[in-house]
Amino acid sequence: MTARWILDANAFKQNVSHVIGDQPVMAVMKNNAYHYGLDFAIHAFLEQGINTFSTTVLREAVRIRALAPDAIVFLMNPSTEFNILHEHDIQMTLPSTEFYLTYKHELAGLTVHLEYENLLHRSGFHTFDEMLDVIETNNLLPLEDQMNITGIWTHFGYADEFEVSDYDKEKESWLKGLAMIRHHHDFKKIHAQNSASFVRDGLFPGHSHARLGIILYGSRPYSSLPESITHQALTVSANVIQIRLLDADQSAGYSFAFTAVHETRLAVVDIGYGDGILRTRSKHECIINNKRYPIRALMMSHMFVEVDDDVKAGDEVIIYSNDIRIDEMTFKSVGANSEQLSALNHHSLLKEII
Ligand SMILES: Cc1ncc(COP(=O)(O)O)c(C=O)c1O
Repeated sequence: MTARWILDANAFKQNVSHVIGDQPVMAVMKNNAYHYGLDFAIHAFLEQGINTFSTTVLREAVRIRALAPDAIVFLMNPSTEFNILHEHDIQMTLPSTEFYLTYKHELAGLTVHLEYENLLHRSGFHTFDEMLDVIETNNLLPLEDQMNITGIWTHFGYADEFEVSDYDKEKESWLKGLAMIRHHHDFKKIHAQNSASFVRDGLFPGHSHARLGIILYGSRPYSSLPESITHQALTVSANVIQIRLLDADQSAGYSFAFTAVHETRLAVVDIGYGDGILRTRSKHECIINNKRYPIRALMMSHMFVEVDDDVKAGDEVIIYSNDIRIDEMTFKSVGANSEQLSALNHHSLLKEII
């Protein structure tokens, strides 16, 4: 018996279709498609009509190009591997005036999207005026020396925050600056919205794409949304390998990990943090035979679950599924959706796409 990572391909694709409706979407493929696997995810997205992809790593962008020869591939981090960008027709962020001035010659002929820093302060031009200066400088160059400024974008840092007004501020600053700069340059690609912003506001007027990640992969970006907004097609399951009986006051696991207050049936389950289950996940429940039971301890390759007489060796234990979702645990402070997805160990879990 082995613990499993099982992806229902049809459910995944149906969810993509449900999430995007008829809206134009750039799918975020970073970190191996949120760890769902680039090959699988690219094919699923293409099948659902998405043909614009972004990632942060050039190596991934090159793989996306191989999987989707006709797609637009956008690199969200700057790269100085200009030959590779050219060779694989990869569009790239232009993150600052400094980057432009340093690599002006190498950027000739490349397609870039200007990045606005906004409140996230991770990357991007500080102001729209700085971007305008670069556009004007580029326009003065002979055509063959110019870069092709096709896009403009930003990334919101507060779209899933409701207690503070920072999302409204970053949104206003972006939309105001965008309205100004569009008088001076015709951008074909305009994209700003992550899952939270897209769900809150719908696609902003004049934007070519919403740039979506987590909602395409089956998790809600914030807790006040109903589960029906997205479907988790991934199931992580394991097996009861034994039932142990503990008397009151007996402990089990390393360093008294669990101490029984009364006579207790403990199911020993063949999954642990070595398989990528976050340690904080052990504060919550799992599902056995359609019923929730509390996890009592999590070790590297095992966990203990307190069970009743209905549970026996060989029963399947569901750690995550659409009935006990990663986003539910995220909202119970287990860790971010993408953190749990990324941690899952595809070398130790049996990986199946059904
Ligand atoms: C630049 C950028 N755009 C879009 C996204 C997608 O965000 P989400 O997964 O919340 O939809 C991310 C993810 O972190 C990102 O870094």
